[in-house]
Amino acid sequence: MSTFTEANRQAFDGLSTKYDSEPWRHRMTDQIKKGLHNRKDWIGVRWAESDDLQYGRETKLLDYACGTGSVTKAIGSWVTNIRGIDISENMVKLFNEAAQASGLKTEQVNAVVGDLLGDEVSANLDTPEYQNFDLAVIGLGFHHFENPMRAIERLTERLKPATGVLIIIDFLPFDKDEPAGPQAANAQTIKHGGFARQNMEMLFKAAKLENFSFSVMEEQVEMFGKDGTSSKRSVFFARGRREPTTWGKISKWIGSMQTVASDQWQIGPREQVQAQLGPMGGRIRE
Ligand SMILES: C[S@@+](CC[C@H](N)C(=O)[O-])C[C@H]1O[C@@H](n2cnc3c(N)ncnc32)[C@H](O)[C@@H]1O
Repeated sequence: MSTFTEANRQAFDGLSTKYDSEPWRHRMTDQIKKGLHNRKDWIGVRWAESDDLQYGRETKLLDYACGTGSVTKAIGSWVTNIRGIDISENMVKLFNEAAQASGLKTEQVNAVVGDLLGDEVSANLDTPEYQNFDLAVIGLGFHHFENPMRAIERLTERLKPATGVLIIIDFLPFDKDEPAGPQAANAQTIKHGGFARQNMEMLFKAAKLENFSFSVMEEQVEMFGKDGTSSKRSVFFARGRREPTTWGKISKWIGSMQTVASDQWQIGPREQVQAQLGPMGGRIRE
């Protein structure tokens, strides 16, 4: 683990116990939950239906940098399986305690300590359980990452080809070097002072994510530092879909050729007859 990621791990391990008890954080979590709910269709995932579990259809969510589980709590009821990953052991412990207290089984919801962004990925994350997600979300973790491009690439390769969606929830540009406020309190853990739409679009395109879309929450959030000073930030949602595999693209192409051929077969002969009959030649019966 790099020195910077280690600083994040220690900071969030230390923050974990009071993470969910600060009133301003509650307000922010509620605002983002509302933002996600307003964008349920925009996210573009086939959400779980009530009888999916019975028939074995899964909708899998990867909550990356899950913390105590704000994203999971906001949209967990739309999916059948959730895997959380975070570098902070204390955050993961709180995530799992909350899931178990809600009566959820580990097979349904579980978080583990891990880092997908290092030079090597640990073996416990290289199993089918951590592949083929319908949706991966990074909620407010992106500006803490040393290498955002690597984060997008590593999550994209864990999405279902052609349908899997990546959502990044983070802040529009802010002054990360401001001497007061929340950024000052967490200076050693913040790598980027937010992201503009163009940055996000460039990163998503470089990872070959398709259908990029960017949406900013109307209402700003207000964050507080240890010294009581606050700063307001705008929250965005960036979305992209994993491209199909090469085989998927070929099948789609073959499919479209068959459609063209069958359209020609249906329309062609009728138009030819009509042309031979001329404009006054009567109508072909349907
Ligand atoms: C601001 S918190 C957000 C937590 C949660 N997603 C939420 O919305 O409340 C950022 C989280 O990112 C985690 N984190 C930082 N760097 C990470 C990395 N390289 N891999 C995984 N998690 C990381 C921290 O431990 C922390 O829990």
